[in-house]
Amino acid sequence: MEKAFTFYLLTLLLLMASSAMTQTNITTDQLALLSLKSKIISDPSHFLDEKWSPTVSVCHWVGVTCGSRHQRVNSLNLSNMALTGKIPREFGNLSFLVSLDLGSNNFQGNLPQEMARLHRLKFLRLSVNNFCGKVPSWFGFLHQLQVLNLGNNSFTGSIPSSFSNISKLETLNLKFNSIEGQIPKVIGTLVNHRVLNMAGNKLIGFIPTSLSNASRLETLEISFNSLQGNIPEGIGNLHNMNWLAIHFNQLTGSIPFTIFNISRIEVLSFTGNSLSGSLPNGICNGYNVFQ
Ligand SMILES: *[C@@H]1O[C@H](CO)[C@@H](O)[C@H](O)[C@H]1NC(C)=O
Ligand SMILES: *[C@@H]1O[C@H](CO)[C@@H](O)[C@H](O)[C@H]1NC(C)=O
Ligand SMILES: *[C@@H]1O[C@H](CO)[C@@H](O)[C@H](O)[C@H]1NC(C)=O
Ligand SMILES: *[C@@H]1O[C@H](CO)[C@@H](O)[C@H](O)[C@H]1NC(C)=O
Ligand SMILES: *[C@@H]1O[C@H](CO)[C@@H](O)[C@H](O)[C@H]1NC(C)=O
Ligand SMILES: *[C@@H]1O[C@H](CO)[C@@H](O)[C@H](O)[C@H]1NC(C)=O
Ligand SMILES: *[C@@H]1O[C@H](CO)[C@@H](O)[C@H](O)[C@H]1NC(C)=O
Repeated sequence: MEKAFTFYLLTLLLLMASSAMTQTNITTDQLALLSLKSKIISDPSHFLDEKWSPTVSVCHWVGVTCGSRHQRVNSLNLSNMALTGKIPREFGNLSFLVSLDLGSNNFQGNLPQEMARLHRLKFLRLSVNNFCGKVPSWFGFLHQLQVLNLGNNSFTGSIPSSFSNISKLETLNLKFNSIEGQIPKVIGTLVNHRVLNMAGNKLIGFIPTSLSNASRLETLEISFNSLQGNIPEGIGNLHNMNWLAIHFNQLTGSIPFTIFNISRIEVLSFTGNSLSGSLPNGICNGYNVFQ
């Protein structure tokens, strides 16, 4: 009897807890967006000032799109609005968000850890802002992510190995930050990579040979870093590559001839290294070589 009662109580508590957790609706999204608005300290064109008002349905706010099925915010695009401010913790409550574009503004500060809860996110563009702090390892929880663009910010720290969890990632853009350390080997295990841009950071160490396994790679930009050692031979096996920029590093050795056999190559850039050796004949037929 006592046991049954305890069981009943426990079940009731569990039910209450889970319903409290799942009971989010469009009001949750509105609260999250209003707290973002409250953290915007400059909005010179009055994009949010006037048009993000509780008297209008949140799905009609500037930059907001709702999904037809759930009537929840699934896309937020505030790119290029000259906004200055920070992302609040409440932002992690936008659990239906699939696409987030805050690019080309003046957002500052760290990304809140709560953003790790945006499990549906496929597209994330935060480029050309003033975000800082270490590149968060919680990106590894965003398993649906296909595009991650953090370029032109002030991110520090190293590239987290948890990035290997983002197996659907196609575009990773980290260019022009202050990212240190080595390019993790796991980057090469992300076979869906098409665009990998890490130019203009403080990367050291070797170009990982594992990159030769990223067979869909079309763009590899790792120029303006402090990478050392040889250019891995396997790069020449990346048959989809059309843009290879590795200028201004400290690379040595010779350029693997196999690279010149990649038929799709349009841009090759090796200048500003300590490379040696010879180049194959006839390399200027059909593409540009900046060496
Ligand atoms: C959203 O849920 C809260 C309770 O969690 C409720 O008070 C509110 O009326 C709901 N809003 C809508 C628009 O359904
Ligand atoms: C956001 O809006 C800008 C300007 O309209 C557009 O160029 C950009 O592609 C949009 N971003 C997304 C993710 O659709
Ligand atoms: C939203 O997020 C904040 C902070 O992360 C939290 O305190 C709040 O309870 C969340 N839920 C709703 C429904 O706003
Ligand atoms: C990455 O995946 C591993 C294995 O599934 C898991 O243990 C780890 O917590 C994940 N890390 C992140 C940041 O997602
Ligand atoms: C990104 O940063 C680089 C290097 O500082 C700069 O040359 C480039 O113009 C920046 N891009 C944008 C869109 O601001
Ligand atoms: C490429 O992937 C295969 C299979 O996962 C693995 O055995 C091999 O070591 C990888 N090559 C490199 C250079 O990492
Ligand atoms: C380049 O391709 C040609 C024709 O397929 C082949 O004969 C040659 O051995 C290849 N060279 C290298 C360095 O892979």
